[in-house]
Amino acid sequence: MSKIVHVVGARPNFMKIAPIISALGAHPAVTQRLVHTGQHYDHKMAHVFFDELGLPRPDRDLEVGSGTHAEQTGAVMVRFEKVLSDERPDLVVVVGDVNSTLAAALVAAKMGVPVAHVEAGLRSFDWTMPEEINRVVTDRLSAILLAPSEDGAVNLRREGAAEASIFVVGNVMIDTLMAHRASAPWPAVSAALGLADRGYAVLTLHRPANVDDPARLRVLVDRLRQVTAQMPVVFPIHPRTARRFEEQGLGTETSGLRLVDPLGYREFLALMDHAACVLTDSGGIQEETTVLGVPCFTLRDNTERPVTIDEGTNTLVMADGRLLPDAFDDLLRSGGKRGRVPNLWDGQAGRRTADVLTRYLGA
Ligand code: UD1
Repeated sequence: MSKIVHVVGARPNFMKIAPIISALGAHPAVTQRLVHTGQHYDHKMAHVFFDELGLPRPDRDLEVGSGTHAEQTGAVMVRFEKVLSDERPDLVVVVGDVNSTLAAALVAAKMGVPVAHVEAGLRSFDWTMPEEINRVVTDRLSAILLAPSEDGAVNLRREGAAEASIFVVGNVMIDTLMAHRASAPWPAVSAALGLADRGYAVLTLHRPANVDDPARLRVLVDRLRQVTAQMPVVFPIHPRTARRFEEQGLGTETSGLRLVDPLGYREFLALMDHAACVLTDSGGIQEETTVLGVPCFTLRDNTERPVTIDEGTNTLVMADGRLLPDAFDDLLRSGGKRGRVPNLWDGQAGRRTADVLTRYLGA
C-alpha cells in the first residue's frame, strides 16, 4: 500500500485536486489523505467548493488563515511538518502556485518525502509576482513535474530539470470544467442577475499589483467604463478587492460595475460560459475561457499561460488596461478571438496524472 498526501489551500487549488483524487480512487493500492492549509477559509472562498466538487472532507485543516507572506508560509510549514511526521506518506502532491504550495513542498523535500507538482513549468518571468517565486522554487523541489502544456516542459528543461521527471499530462482544471459544464445553473444565474445570453461581461480582479495601489485601481476602474457603457459588467468581488473598494469609496454606483459576492464554482462557470467576454487578472480563468470559447481580456502585463494567447481566446490588455479600448472595439466589431482548445486539455488529465503517480510509486 502506498500513501499520498494531497495539499490544498486556496480557491484555485480545489478544482485542480478534485480530478486527481477521483482518478487515484480507482487504484486499490493507494491510500489518500487530503490536507487543507486554511489559507482560504471563508465559506465562499473554500468550503463551498468541497461540497460542489465532491471533494472528501479534509483529513487535516491547518487553519493558518491570512497574514504576510512569511507569516502564512511559515505557519503552513510548521503545521505541515507535524502532519508529515504523523502520516509518513510516500508522496506529497501540491498544485498551483499559492503560498501553501511552496510551503508544503519545502517541508516535504526537507523531510525526504518526494513531491509531485501539478501545474509545473508555468513561467511569467516576472519576479515581482509572488506566484512566480512559488512556481520556480516548488518546481526545483519536486521529483515529479506535471506540466499542463508543452511550453511548461520547455521551461523546465531550460532550467535543467531531469527529462525523466517531466510529464506533460494536460490541464486538470479543465477536467473539472468539463465534468460540470453541462449542469452549470445558467437559468438560475441569469434569472437572479437579470442577464441575457452574451449580453454582459464578467470581471474578476484580485492581484495585489492591480488592486493594492489606489491610483492604479482608479485608472483601471475608469478604463473599464468603456465596457460598462456598452453592457453590464458583473463583478464577483474577492475579499481583498472588496476591502480596497470600500477604502476607495467604490461601489456599484460609483464604479459602474455590478458588485456581487464571490460565487460557487458552478454558478461562476455558468456566468463565464454565457458572457460576451471576461475581464480578469486570474491565471485559471485565462485557461477556462479558452476552453469555453469566450474572449478573455487579461488585465496583466504578462502571463505564465502563453498557450491561451497563442491558441486560445486570451488577449493581454495590460495591468492598467491601456490596451482594453482597442481590444474591446474589436470584440464589438468582430465578436473577438475564437481560438482552439490546446492539446491534452481534454478532460483526461486527472487520469494521466494518476497513472504517472502510481507508476512512480510502483502501486
Ligand atoms: C491567493 C494566491 C493567489 C491566488 C488567489 C486566488 C498567494 C501568494 N496568492 O491570493 O495566487 O490567485 O489566492 O484567490 O498565495 N481573505 C478573506 N477570506 C479568505 C481568504 C482571504 O477575507 O477566505 C482576505 C484576507 O483579507 C487576506 C486577503 O484576502 O488578507 C488575501 O488572501 P491571501 O490568501 O493572502 O491571498 P489572495 O489575494 O487570496
